[in-house]
Amino acid sequence: MLDFDDTSDSSSSFSSNFSNHNRSRVNKRKSVESPEEQSNLPVITSLDTINIGKRSLNADDIKLIGGRGYDLRQPVPIKYKIVRERFLNARNNFWLPNEIQMGEDKLEWQTAQLTSAEMYLFKLNISYLTASDSLVPDNLNNAILNHITAPEMRQYLRWQIAEEANHLESYLFILESFGLDEQGQGQIFNLYQEVPALINKLNWNIKFTNNVASSPFPPGHFESQRALLEDLISYYVFEYLFFPLGFSQIFALARTGKLRNTAQQYSYIWRDENLHSANGLWMIKQIIIENPHLWDNEMKERTRAIVNEAVHLETEYAHASMPDGGIIGLPVQTYIKYAQFIANTVCKQLNVKSLFPIKDHPMPWLSEYELRHEVNFFEGRVREYQTGSQLSWD
Ligand SMILES: [Fe+2]
Ligand SMILES: [Fe+2]
Repeated sequence: MLDFDDTSDSSSSFSSNFSNHNRSRVNKRKSVESPEEQSNLPVITSLDTINIGKRSLNADDIKLIGGRGYDLRQPVPIKYKIVRERFLNARNNFWLPNEIQMGEDKLEWQTAQLTSAEMYLFKLNISYLTASDSLVPDNLNNAILNHITAPEMRQYLRWQIAEEANHLESYLFILESFGLDEQGQGQIFNLYQEVPALINKLNWNIKFTNNVASSPFPPGHFESQRALLEDLISYYVFEYLFFPLGFSQIFALARTGKLRNTAQQYSYIWRDENLHSANGLWMIKQIIIENPHLWDNEMKERTRAIVNEAVHLETEYAHASMPDGGIIGLPVQTYIKYAQFIANTVCKQLNVKSLFPIKDHPMPWLSEYELRHEVNFFEGRVREYQTGSQLSWD
């Protein structure tokens, strides 16, 4: 386990000009610090200016958050090799929405093959997911990245931001390919602003982002790191719970032969979200390993409360998007059980007590839509995936 000491910041008083104070301390930095001296250095940020110095970066100094005494802008040495592999792997798996054919769905849309309940569900679903896929990179950009002090993780998260932007393009491409003009697209995208269940779900994540972004405490302080940990848990809930739940609604339609091209777009997005989830869980666990004082009983109970809130929000969303009790193949109660099942998995992964009395996956058929076509980064770029109607869901 790595040494970690945030007592210097947590015991000091803070003023509004902390950044200037921070920089002047950086300017006085010696070329080599003893461990004791290093623990007194301010936590580094991407806003620190560069100083003349001969100090080379040592991998042992790097910390996922709260790093001190080194510059963030050097790609080597790499401390967390797994994170570097994750970046290279993700880059090799990059895909483009317009590589997936949308002809079948366009025909279904234009010949009104969806029932009114299915149409309402689809519109709310894509509106919600589009707003969500905008919130996630904003959270990374405005809150999470401000705390990350491992250059290889910063690089991975930059790439993730590009992938989230690509997901937004996928939703836009779906509506474009149905033949909708900007006004028609806008009417659908705007729906999240008209349904309280969607607003509440989205605002829930913004609250955690804001708690970090507007924290009165500097990076490295207990309170700001705790806010970050809560935000990361909400981020993980987004990637691992909210997104798959949303995708499942369209996969249920695809099972009945509807919107299969859209479902394929969602499958590729889900593959990315699975990798983002894996990285998110790793970040949470690694922060806890490096900063065990953050993971006290209060935080464990807080974690359970956050996950429970998420299921409550998802339940509200379920009723709002499926007001008639569900669609063919997806009763609203099954959907809610799926949320509870994932919530229990999250609790298990974080080693806190489960929340719901559910043991079995209520929608085992979802695995048909979960692409596990990840490639080893040594094999190069993947281009062999099938497109559009060529892909069989059966
Ligand atoms: Fe995304
Ligand atoms: Fe994501």
